[in-house]
Amino acid sequence: MAQIATKATTADTFNVKATLAHNRLLGLWRLLKGYRPMYLSATLSLGVAALLMTGGVLLIRYFVDNILVRPDESFMTAALAVALLYVAMQAVRGFFSFRSNERAARVSESVALRLKDYLFDHLQHLPFAYHDKMPTGELIQRVTSDVDAIRLFFAEQLIGIGRIFVLFVVNFAALLFLHAPLALLSVLVIPIVMVLSLFFFRRVSAAYEDFQEQDAVVSRTVQENLSGVRVVKAFARQDFEKQRFEGENHKKFRLGTRFMTMHAIYWPFTDVLMGLQTALGYLAASLMVLDGQITLGTYVAYVGVVWWIIDPVRNLGRLIVQVSEAMVSYDRLSEVIRPDWEDMGYGLPAPVSQPQGRLKFEGVSFEYEPGKPVLHDISFEVEPGQAVALLGSTGSGKTSLMALLTRFYDYTGGRITLDGVDLKAYPRVFLRNLIGVVEQEPFLFSTTIRNNIAYGVYREVSQEEIEAAARAAAAHDFIASFPEGYNTLVGERGVTLSGGQKQRVALARTLLKNPRILILDDATSSVDTQTESQIREALDGLMSQRTSFVIAHRIQSVMNADLILVMDKGRIVQRGTHEQLMAERDGIYRKTYDMQASIETELERELSYVGLAV
Ligand SMILES: Nc1ncnc2c1ncn2[C@@H]1O[C@H](COP(=O)(O)OP(=O)(O)OP(=O)(O)O)[C@@H](O)[C@H]1O
Ligand SMILES: [Mg+2]
Repeated sequence: MAQIATKATTADTFNVKATLAHNRLLGLWRLLKGYRPMYLSATLSLGVAALLMTGGVLLIRYFVDNILVRPDESFMTAALAVALLYVAMQAVRGFFSFRSNERAARVSESVALRLKDYLFDHLQHLPFAYHDKMPTGELIQRVTSDVDAIRLFFAEQLIGIGRIFVLFVVNFAALLFLHAPLALLSVLVIPIVMVLSLFFFRRVSAAYEDFQEQDAVVSRTVQENLSGVRVVKAFARQDFEKQRFEGENHKKFRLGTRFMTMHAIYWPFTDVLMGLQTALGYLAASLMVLDGQITLGTYVAYVGVVWWIIDPVRNLGRLIVQVSEAMVSYDRLSEVIRPDWEDMGYGLPAPVSQPQGRLKFEGVSFEYEPGKPVLHDISFEVEPGQAVALLGSTGSGKTSLMALLTRFYDYTGGRITLDGVDLKAYPRVFLRNLIGVVEQEPFLFSTTIRNNIAYGVYREVSQEEIEAAARAAAAHDFIASFPEGYNTLVGERGVTLSGGQKQRVALARTLLKNPRILILDDATSSVDTQTESQIREALDGLMSQRTSFVIAHRIQSVMNADLILVMDKGRIVQRGTHEQLMAERDGIYRKTYDMQASIETELERELSYVGLAV
């Protein structure tokens, strides 16, 4: 039997879910775990850089007041010394600036890395019911742009706000040192700018949320269009799709423009305010120079310093707005992170460690959505090694019934037992290893055929094993006919397999896993009758040792089963062996048989008419 995975793969991944908090800032702070010292060091470096810059301005003040206005014979030497000191200060400032940016970038990239890693793993652990409802495009958008918004929060916004704060404190202190009343006069406008920022914080946040939601709609439309490209082409619906996309994209454009316009209004508005403030400060300072209250050097220093208070504060508005965007993204990510994982039961023992495969369904019912049952009162029994066939019109619930066995979904009524124990007592991971399913629409990864076949086992597999599985699935011959054989790449970068070839590779993949219980959901629907009987022969040997379920539409594929269940609208309407069911003259089974047989005779007649015999 296949070796069993008993461990969650994620033991060493940072648990983002544990950091979630209703207070978004608290949540973001927790997300920084492990990187806080580095982030602090980025902020401190920023402070050092700010100090050095303001120090430079004060040095110029010294130069003007003590050297420039009273030049003597040592002027050149003194000027050179000041110049050198100034350059040295700026070089060190440059270094700290770099260090601050570099550390902030490292922290923000690390947070994004950890978030994305977690999200990837998280999404693959969510139950089927979640994925049924959540469009893939939407999830992709959250894993990409919303994570990026969080990255920017740490890389630019938080540190940017820190920078404004530090610049303000350092330069305001310098101003107070230069001239206290002048300092107070120079910050009059700041409270007004703060209030304005806050106003924008509210308005723009709402606009951004709308924009971001529409952005998700656009991603989803692109994703769906690409997945369904064949249908679009086959129905020549390009124009319709184009219009649909353009409609959504235009809506995004309108929301984006609205959002950007709100941004754009802010700048000229604050430009005027800040211009007035600067003019007032410069005027007052010049008058003070004329009056002899301050020196020329102080004036020069004032002009240099005041700009470093006023200009950054203007950015506070922008940053606060961007923080609000990051908060929206945080909420959107929290929404994805909050749902619980499907409980795989890693490490838990199974109630029966080596089940024989005796299954009993007792009045089982199931609904995907409350109030809309798709299976009603299903009861039957299967002995180990028996083959059960499910036959029924499309939508009658065959796939749904099988999905209960692997616990992709849990049944809502009745009871299923495996070797006498309720199925719900078995850990999901155990059942997934025990049961092999060939899905109705198999999916192959864009890697080699060999890797695709070996996908389900947790160990090294030899070429012989791979080939044996492929032979049993009647896939060996066509694989061997490719120039690169088992190393042929599947999908976008390699060959495109036909529906029947894909089914056979998928079948080989499941057979290699050597499951105790085998489910073939329409697994041979795309292969011709001859190949199907080849597969059937090979499978007959394999299936005798395991309990198997075969879903098919052709009577030929099900007639050898030990038990045939005919389903209709979520119920079993007929049951028995082929002979028993054939005897029920008015049953669906007999009618289907007659119809399929007449189609076949018809076909044979026509083929012999054109000179081809089957
Ligand atoms: N994930 C789902 N969420 C909600 N309803 C679903 C889901 N999957 C299937 N259904 C519904 O359950 C019913 C049974 O579907 P199911 O896929 O089991 O049919 P089936 O017998 O396998 O059909 P087919 O022969 O076409 O494969 C259908 O009415 C279908 O609409
Ligand atoms: Mg189905």
